[in-house]
Amino acid sequence: MTNPTITIDGPTASGKGTVAQLVAKALGFHYLDSGALYRLTALSALRHQLALDDEAAIAQLALNLPCRFVGEQIFLEQEEVGNIIRAEEIGNAASKIAVLPAVRAALLQLQKNFSAPPGLVADGRDMGTVIFPDAEVKIYLTASVAARAERRFKQLISKGFSANIQDLLQDLTERDARDLNRSTAPLKPAEGAFMLDTSDLTIQQAVELVLKQYEQYV
Ligand code: C5P
Repeated sequence: MTNPTITIDGPTASGKGTVAQLVAKALGFHYLDSGALYRLTALSALRHQLALDDEAAIAQLALNLPCRFVGEQIFLEQEEVGNIIRAEEIGNAASKIAVLPAVRAALLQLQKNFSAPPGLVADGRDMGTVIFPDAEVKIYLTASVAARAERRFKQLISKGFSANIQDLLQDLTERDARDLNRSTAPLKPAEGAFMLDTSDLTIQQAVELVLKQYEQYV
């Protein structure tokens, strides 16, 4: 029997990470933050001083990514990097390496390995379209660019990073363009996905709507 899977895809800073984690907690499911894998790969590439278009070398890093997820902590080798990978610089680098097909292929199995009983909530860009195409529930979660820039601003400030709304608006627009227009696994709603615009919703409201979708499945 397969493990039930809920995929939550959407653009950067749409709130899908927070929603996905709360949904996973409510159901007692595992949680895959696939963006963190791209961020870890980017951090590792920067530390190895690789050019961000060196597809073969970065794919090799991704294939043997020495990462571990322990509760809310994320380790690269022995170092806890959960906060470091949230920096905008790393997010931008992640979005650049995410256009490389060999890097995406190298991260495929690692992502699939997160599927385990009693179930999984997976968040990213291609969870419902590429990684878990047979998922029982697929959500496409979005919000206006302005709402997303404000959320990212608050998130960065709360983690002790400096941030500027205008720069964030520009970054988000550029990142959206890269995610939407790349040839491999572009960001798009999976077939049959439930569309959820969270611009005017609280996190709790969004979580409840996702749980309601899951209840319809069980
Ligand atoms: O979701 P997050 O902002 O942490 O992801 C960082 C970057 O990784 C994104 O900007 C996106 O380009 C890339 N990504 C991806 N596919 C995923 C998850 C993230 O291309 N499944």
